[in-house]
Amino acid sequence: MTIWDRLEEKQAQVSGRTILSLFNGGRAGVFSARMGDLLFDYSKTNIDAETLDLLLKLAADADVFGRRDAMFAGEKINETEGRAVLHTALRNLEGTPVYVDGKDVMPDILATLGRMEAFSTAVRNGTFTGQGGAITDVVNIGIGGSDLGPQMTTLALAPYHDGPRAHFVSNIDGAHIADTLKGLNPETTLVIVASKTFTTIETMTNAKTARDWMAQTVADPAAQFVAVSSAIGKAAEFGIPADRVFGFGDYVGGRYSVWGPIGLSLMLAIGPDNFRDFLHGGAAMDTHFRTAAPAQNMPLLLALVGIWHHQICGYKTRAVLPYDQRLTHLPAYFQQLEMESNGKSVTMDGQPLTRPSGPVVWGKPGTNGQHAFYQLIHQGTDVVPCEFLIAAKGFEPDLAHQHDLLLANCLAQSEALMKGRSLEVARDLMAAKGFTGAELERQARHHVFPGNRPTTTLIYPELTPNTLGRIIAIYEHRVFVEGVILGINSFDQWGVELGKELAVALTPLIKGEESVEGKDGSTRMLVEYILKSS
Ligand code: F6P
Repeated sequence: MTIWDRLEEKQAQVSGRTILSLFNGGRAGVFSARMGDLLFDYSKTNIDAETLDLLLKLAADADVFGRRDAMFAGEKINETEGRAVLHTALRNLEGTPVYVDGKDVMPDILATLGRMEAFSTAVRNGTFTGQGGAITDVVNIGIGGSDLGPQMTTLALAPYHDGPRAHFVSNIDGAHIADTLKGLNPETTLVIVASKTFTTIETMTNAKTARDWMAQTVADPAAQFVAVSSAIGKAAEFGIPADRVFGFGDYVGGRYSVWGPIGLSLMLAIGPDNFRDFLHGGAAMDTHFRTAAPAQNMPLLLALVGIWHHQICGYKTRAVLPYDQRLTHLPAYFQQLEMESNGKSVTMDGQPLTRPSGPVVWGKPGTNGQHAFYQLIHQGTDVVPCEFLIAAKGFEPDLAHQHDLLLANCLAQSEALMKGRSLEVARDLMAAKGFTGAELERQARHHVFPGNRPTTTLIYPELTPNTLGRIIAIYEHRVFVEGVILGINSFDQWGVELGKELAVALTPLIKGEESVEGKDGSTRMLVEYILKSS
């Protein structure tokens, strides 16, 4: 019997019991983990000591710790692309050597960080200017990991924002760049072209549009452009001089790249010191992941909770629910991290997966979601494990009473999801409202909450740069652990390629330059509709 079989057997045994029944003394302390001032509570799940033990064995059996050490050591664990996986090196501020192909990558990483800091300081103190004076606005043009990371973190750390205004353009839809540039002064705007490959059609197209927009007003548009990329040569072809190109190695995946040059827009917004605190946070979580005992290892535990819910219990999706308006983009960021990393059907050696791949990840900040989709989470037929995140303290001392309400709502949701409301209680409630007989029974059934719905809560004193760094690193390592357990390569993304290829082939058809012959009936009909309408 494999560990997977034993976990399935265990799930069959315990599926009928309530999570609440597990709370018979000391559970919260055991089924939680602390890292510094972070507290991760997974006691409101149906995991008991035996399940945890099996899950930890599953991780050990998959050689999670060996793969972890190989990752940090710079081994080429991204086997399909023949690359090391070293976003962790970007936050290795101590500079301890990390070797790729026998070369220590740390001197280059730290030198680039130093250049980013010098440039950011010059922009922020007005030494580096636009052609009409000090830089007032920064537009980051990128997509996927070259957008979600900087955009998410810049909003998350808004209380630390004392640099120029930050804007983010990603979509190929011209509306995005048109709406963003409208109202900006080209003479005081800095454009960052952020693309690991410097070939992504959305980013290259938007970058040209921004350059044309700037050229209408300023004599030398390239002087207000910066490139961040691992394809330094291509940035030069775009006309951006080498001193404003910030490079990084191909061992940094797009969705893991916010820690390096792709984070330049964040550094411009919050300043180099705060950016360093952010890196320190990520590095502290790396140390925790490498050294904490398995039963206290936060990324490992979060991964095992995820495996239990998705692969064993069969819950199809997982919701990320930050109770923090400034973490509005966090669910989308984690969505890319998880779904682009672990949304695969074959194992590293090309064999079909025997278990489901990673789950669908989605979410929105609370409390807004409560008034929209929580209905299904509470009473729908699908169980959606929820991952809550919240700070004990907000940044607005005058509005502390509002933060209290935010906290109360967050805790109320996990309590309600666990406890639910029985038919008996619902009947009493309806009777108190004056219902009787068949109508009481009918109404009562609408007011039943099945409960027993699993949640986790990650809580921290406040959302500082260091804390945000730690949170992101928890989730990065969580995705890594899940990938190792499933035998997936979490660091390629071949699934995005086919659509890109077909889009290139379809463009001349949309322009009417090539015939739709050979296309399927649906695509032909849609192209013909477009041609008639445009
Ligand atoms: O198409 C997917 C993807 O390659 C992501 O992995 C990446 O974050 C995004 O596109 C942007 O890529 P680039 O930074 O190379 O422009």
